[in-house]
Amino acid sequence: MVPRLKRPLKVPFLLKEDFMVYQNQRGTYDAFDEEALNIENVVETLKDIVKFYGYNPIHTPLYEQTELFARTSGESSDIVTKEMFTFIDKGGRNITLRPEVTAGVIRAIVNNKLYATKDLPLKYYYYGPTFRYERPSKGRYRQFNQFGVECVGVNSYLSDVETISLGFNALQTLGFENIVLKINTLGDEESRKNYQVALREFFKDKIQNMCDDCKRRYETNVLRILDCKDPEDQEIIKDAPKMKDYLNENSKEYFTKVISLLDEQQIPYEIDDNLVRGLDYYSHVVFEYHYYLKDGTSIGAIGAGGHYDNLVSEIGGPALSSVGFAIGIERVNTLLKELMPESLEKTSLDVYIIHMGEETLQTSFILMQELRNNCFKVDMCLENKSLGQQFKIANRKNAKFALIIGENEMKSYVYPVKNLKTTVQEEVDYHDLIDYLTNKIVFEEEEEC
Ligand code: HAM
Repeated sequence: MVPRLKRPLKVPFLLKEDFMVYQNQRGTYDAFDEEALNIENVVETLKDIVKFYGYNPIHTPLYEQTELFARTSGESSDIVTKEMFTFIDKGGRNITLRPEVTAGVIRAIVNNKLYATKDLPLKYYYYGPTFRYERPSKGRYRQFNQFGVECVGVNSYLSDVETISLGFNALQTLGFENIVLKINTLGDEESRKNYQVALREFFKDKIQNMCDDCKRRYETNVLRILDCKDPEDQEIIKDAPKMKDYLNENSKEYFTKVISLLDEQQIPYEIDDNLVRGLDYYSHVVFEYHYYLKDGTSIGAIGAGGHYDNLVSEIGGPALSSVGFAIGIERVNTLLKELMPESLEKTSLDVYIIHMGEETLQTSFILMQELRNNCFKVDMCLENKSLGQQFKIANRKNAKFALIIGENEMKSYVYPVKNLKTTVQEEVDYHDLIDYLTNKIVFEEEEEC
């Protein structure tokens, strides 16, 4: 029994005193039919592609102890300072819904000692919900899905290029032709330390005029000031020292090799000196995939990642260089809907069985099951309905064929099969039905393609 409300809530939606319409939470969404189907198609396509690169799936929990994310994302990151869904569970544990998947994957690798029992590099892909308490906007949710890969335990620029091109090819396969790949290097630890000193010096007498986030970042991680989106701060940031001028020989050589191999592979990129990423675990190469709407606006990166050297050792494993990225499925879906609506699949059926009268219901049902067992997508109305109503449903469900069963058909085993697109109707013997449908649906459709 829902407790009675003494006075209306601010957003009441109250129909009766004790009845309330529940809304989904801010920053979340419901997806169904076409929308859900297309999200699934995107994920299936991505899974198919990463398997060509030798990746296997990994499943990790949606929540972990808060300390894992605080430590790996960085105490000063926006994710940790503002965006985590954190709670104390009934056992008094401090828990956080994962704001990203990488940390959980690495924790699983360390806990299960996968680096000791399997060949390196470990190559895992994942898909699932992630949670960030952000201000919702187009392409920005509080619960969203990431599809990502982590290649753990190889210290070679080749694996960085392999991973960057995997993301690029995957997005191209989804239909994105003009991907803007932004790339930068954060160098190794020594280079980064020198750069941080230079940045601190540069911002020393400017920071008091910058936004509160920048002030906080100046104290905790000065590099992240470069990520500030405030237009006034950006005016200051554009004159800041550049990472490329603080790279030691080793870091310079590493980045040059990555860039030349991207050139060799004809993968277009833009070097973005201010790309530092919002997570603290990166070193050397970082990258983001962007795509622009027709009006030139962006809904943010559709995917992003980078190289990381210390994450595995940070949480108790050996030092293993790694690289990975994650693609935001909602952003991909939003872009596909806006830019390529014609490429989206509609929900459909191969056959809708139309029955005529109570006596034909069971025969129709048995035939439907038989066709399903032969890999056709089939449905029918499980109650008596008029012929007209059933044809309307068949059309609304995008059925390719209507198979009609009346009392005569039941006796003769010959059924009228109507192509609902062309309206051509043919009589098909029960024994020829599977071959007939296979020819029409599988082979003729392939020819159309
Ligand atoms: P990230 O850049 O924080 O990286 O997120 C990856 C992608 O998730 C973004 O490029 C974006 O498409 C999507 N995304 C992020 N926040 C939201 C949001 N609020 N709503 C919708 N989509 C969002 C990571 O998470 C790293 N773990 C990637 C990585 C893997 N680096 C190495 N390995």
